[in-house]
Amino acid sequence: MPFRDVDVNEQGHMIIGGCDAVELARTYGTPLYVLDEDRVRQACRAYRDAFSRYYPRGLAVYAGKALLTTGVCRIVAQEGMGLDVVSGGELYTALAAGFPPDRIYFHGNNKSVDELRLALSEGVGRIVVDNLGELELLEALAREQGRTADILLRITPGVEAHTHTYIRTGQLDSKFGIPIAGGQGLAAARRAAESARLRLVGYHCHIGSQIFDLSSYEAAIVLMMEFLAEAQRATGVAAKELDLGGGLGIRYTAEDRPPTPEELVRRIADVVRQEAARHGIAAPALALEPGRSIVGEAGVTLYTIGFVKRIPGVRTYAAVDGGMADNPRVALYQARYEAVVANKANQPRLETVTIAGKSCESGDVLIRDLEVPPLESGDVLAVLSTGAYNYSMASNYNRFPRPAMVLVSRGRHDLLVARETYADLIRHDRIPRWLEEPAGEVAEAAG
Ligand code: LLP
Repeated sequence: MPFRDVDVNEQGHMIIGGCDAVELARTYGTPLYVLDEDRVRQACRAYRDAFSRYYPRGLAVYAGKALLTTGVCRIVAQEGMGLDVVSGGELYTALAAGFPPDRIYFHGNNKSVDELRLALSEGVGRIVVDNLGELELLEALAREQGRTADILLRITPGVEAHTHTYIRTGQLDSKFGIPIAGGQGLAAARRAAESARLRLVGYHCHIGSQIFDLSSYEAAIVLMMEFLAEAQRATGVAAKELDLGGGLGIRYTAEDRPPTPEELVRRIADVVRQEAARHGIAAPALALEPGRSIVGEAGVTLYTIGFVKRIPGVRTYAAVDGGMADNPRVALYQARYEAVVANKANQPRLETVTIAGKSCESGDVLIRDLEVPPLESGDVLAVLSTGAYNYSMASNYNRFPRPAMVLVSRGRHDLLVARETYADLIRHDRIPRWLEEPAGEVAEAAG
């Protein structure tokens, strides 16, 4: 059984956001990303409500790396969230959507001069400075533009969250942030506090992603609050804000039991207050940067089943019309997903199949051993919890055009992203001058 009951209509079709999934597949084609607007809004509200209840000086800042389009920016802005961007491209997307710049947090471990100039001239709310080199560069650019900027220093507290190595970031041996260890954090804080152009608003840390164990946050807060107290003594400047990053896990399978945003916020609120009191410093305003837990479970990917290959006594493969190009997470992180046959959503699951993608890689398998009703070519498969880090990490491997994405809400559906065309695939291709002769003449010219 899938980890959650999906809604089913009288034809036995799965429903998402009040829309028949099989109809969506027919209307927009497959593969198709479907995003349930109301679930996104509910997740935003879960953070907002939790902050207003347990820590009113708290802001949820959506991490756009999970899924960013101009339409998604609109939803997040309407929900009163901040927005974490990590590149000029994400910043451009947010600005193009009219996202309020003062609610944008700009991250990145190697921001370019152009990216920093854009952030300064657009007046983004916080630049999260990742290292000393960036601090110096940002100060020089701010001086050049005659501006000042509000910054957070990204600190690596040295905490290991229990998650996949590639999505773990808070430990000492990391390309991100300034380590507390060896006094580097304090040196950066001193340097920032002296700056005439940069206002040191506070500190940031991010310990990892798909985290289920809240004690990882607790450990990070204990270290960060101790650092805040030391930095205040060293610089004379009290941190106004502590940004604890993102990372709350979601349900991909029945075994996943993540804490809720409410549980997370309540726990961090308690620990921050307790540690502030212990060190005799003012409790800072808090920020969290949830990405996956805002959009992950709100997304479903629809595929059409193509060929079904039965190898007697070994395995049955059912191939879909997408795979690692639209969802690289399985190949990259051994991520696990569950799925429902959308046009047979209320039929008993009597068969076990392995869902193969259509990329030219043996490793392109989306789901192993999925229980399904007897499958036929043309069935529509709905893979659940694909809202985060699927579209945003999709590629054109094998020159597959990237799928469309549709937003659904209360029976309405409309495009968030149009399907790429073959023409899009060659749009940026160029033929170097010396290859311009028609193909037949090349052999002669060379000979
Ligand atoms: N803030 C910072 C500074 C981050 O580095 C990240 C994620 C987030 C917030 C959001 O974390 P979330 O709430 O989504 O866990 N591609 C991987 C995930 C990489 C996450 C990188 N940083 C995946 O598909 O699992």
